[in-house]
Amino acid sequence: MSSFKINSFEEYQEIYKRSVDDPEGFWADIAGTFRWQKKWDKVLDWNFTEPNVKWFVGGKLNITENCLDRHLEKNANTIAYIWEPNNPNDPTIKYTYRELHEKVCRFANVLKKHGAKKGDRICIYMPMIPELAIAVLACARIGAIHSVVFGGFSAHSIADRIQDAQSSLVITADGGVRGNKEIPLKSVMDDALELCPSVKKVIVFTKTKTPVYMLRGRDYWWEEEQATVGADCPAEPMDAEDTLFILYTSGSTGKPKGVLHTCGGYMVFAQYTFENVFQYEQPEIFFCTADIGWITGHSYIVYGPLLSGATSVMFEGIPTWPDPGRFWDIVQKHRVTTLYTAPTAIRSLMASGLKYVEKKDLSSLTKLGSVGEPINEEAWHWFHEHIGKGRCPIVDTWWQTETGGILISPIANITPLKPGYATLPLPGVQPCLVDEKGAIIEGNGVSGNLCIKFPWPGMIRTTYGDHERCRKTYFATYDNMYFTGDGCLRDKDGYYRITGRVDDVINVSGHRIGTAEVENAINMHTGVVESAVVGFPHDIKGQGIYAYVITEKSPADPNLMKQDILMTVSRIIGPIAKPDKIQFVSGLPKTRSGKIMRRILRKVAEGDLANVGDTSTLLDPAVVDEIKAGVIM
Ligand code: PRX
Repeated sequence: MSSFKINSFEEYQEIYKRSVDDPEGFWADIAGTFRWQKKWDKVLDWNFTEPNVKWFVGGKLNITENCLDRHLEKNANTIAYIWEPNNPNDPTIKYTYRELHEKVCRFANVLKKHGAKKGDRICIYMPMIPELAIAVLACARIGAIHSVVFGGFSAHSIADRIQDAQSSLVITADGGVRGNKEIPLKSVMDDALELCPSVKKVIVFTKTKTPVYMLRGRDYWWEEEQATVGADCPAEPMDAEDTLFILYTSGSTGKPKGVLHTCGGYMVFAQYTFENVFQYEQPEIFFCTADIGWITGHSYIVYGPLLSGATSVMFEGIPTWPDPGRFWDIVQKHRVTTLYTAPTAIRSLMASGLKYVEKKDLSSLTKLGSVGEPINEEAWHWFHEHIGKGRCPIVDTWWQTETGGILISPIANITPLKPGYATLPLPGVQPCLVDEKGAIIEGNGVSGNLCIKFPWPGMIRTTYGDHERCRKTYFATYDNMYFTGDGCLRDKDGYYRITGRVDDVINVSGHRIGTAEVENAINMHTGVVESAVVGFPHDIKGQGIYAYVITEKSPADPNLMKQDILMTVSRIIGPIAKPDKIQFVSGLPKTRSGKIMRRILRKVAEGDLANVGDTSTLLDPAVVDEIKAGVIM
């Protein structure tokens, strides 16, 4: 395996120190293990004021040569993906690196045939099938920029993302299945495309055999097209700082932003983090349960594992179907060694009881991982004891769409663990805690806002089409630092524990949802005057969505009105953003300058009615009593 694998805790400490003393030398050594078409002239160029961050300046590469071609010489017959279908009775599909290489090259030629070229934006809206990974890699092969949209988003959300990126081509499927639900992907896409004149071509993979509308001259079948092209597709030479992909994510303001990652730095960081955190070695079987529609899937189903020549399980379905033992069946069936999942899934399986775990053979497991939200101690211990049988370390990996890969995490079997703690930064990552005034808080046993004070290769370069937004969101709150939006404590041992978002972002089942986005969607309903959305603690989802809604007139059928609001949010964003609780109110607690005091709304939603705090500065303090009286517990 690669030369950058950390082997002991002492080595971690030494390497960490080197990465701070000589970051450029540190990263150059790691980058040197990759296949470059031309070596870089300069390792790093940066400032956090504009911001302008460039890694491996002048280097040329194609990430797919590193994911695929470089393994062909010795490991062509190694399995890259073991695909587990939604229905456990359907056959598993396995692809070797050689087969994956061929499929990617062939589909890249299909894209070229339809006019796609370097720099074009391609929207991918697909179920969790191997073709999703193939589509992603085919884009990268020809230098087109992929923008994957999670299969659970609505037509409206897709249209926003396509318009923002001005995508010219779309890759989708007729439909997808998750559990016992069928999602008519092409039909949803057709609705989106009504609003997207930039899209000239649509390639459709046949998955569910759902009848679909196929528009002549625009829509083409994947299977037919790939039969018309060859399997030889040279990799497009990419500049290290050329864009690899855009991935939309929610922030404090209404519109999701297109987080942009570039080829060289992202590649180096994805493999470096994958191999170190999970201590991956062939022939281990790695299973990341995320969807490729999120960053976790990009970095730890597609790029990280493939760069490392790993064997991964890719799962089409959901953890609770046909029953809540599905993950454990998959572990048993494919002899999974590393299971990387989300606290929300752990809590939901924990709630289903041990009867789904007990008879399963989980003896292949050696490592466990968690991502997406803080893991509560109860879930940590359950995972450790009942799934890992006390012998598997849990790597609690903290990172974000913007960071490209894991920043703070234990290294499996190397970093001493503490339940609920993401523990220590990986070498090359320099976190700090900052107080409200922007001063760095030194020492241990402290808490503050989590920032990163030095660039790392996988970091966000810009928000697509709006660099100022990137500057304002991440680099303007504190001078010369990347602000994560998370609160964090550093305990007496210097261990980091992420406490959650400090901005108006809610983390529902590990999915980031902006409160403003949900409010905008609720406000689209004809009968709604205004709304305010906050998060509240939820046993399974981590956080739930609580909406306070002012209606034009008192609803004749409040229940129906609530259903209408849910339907509206589903239509505008997608089912994942549906509020768990809706309370009709006659007013919202506002300051004299008209600002909603969310602190009060959060306290009420949490059920902490005694601690709403000072309400004397409110325009109408009486409204708080009304809200408290109507709280939905
Ligand atoms: O609040 C943190 C939380 O998820 C946010 C990032 O969300 P997203 O960009 O969707 O990426 C999720 C997958 C990387 C962070 O700002 N978060 C992520 N991992 C953890 C976490 N919170 C606590 N512990 C974690 N391990």
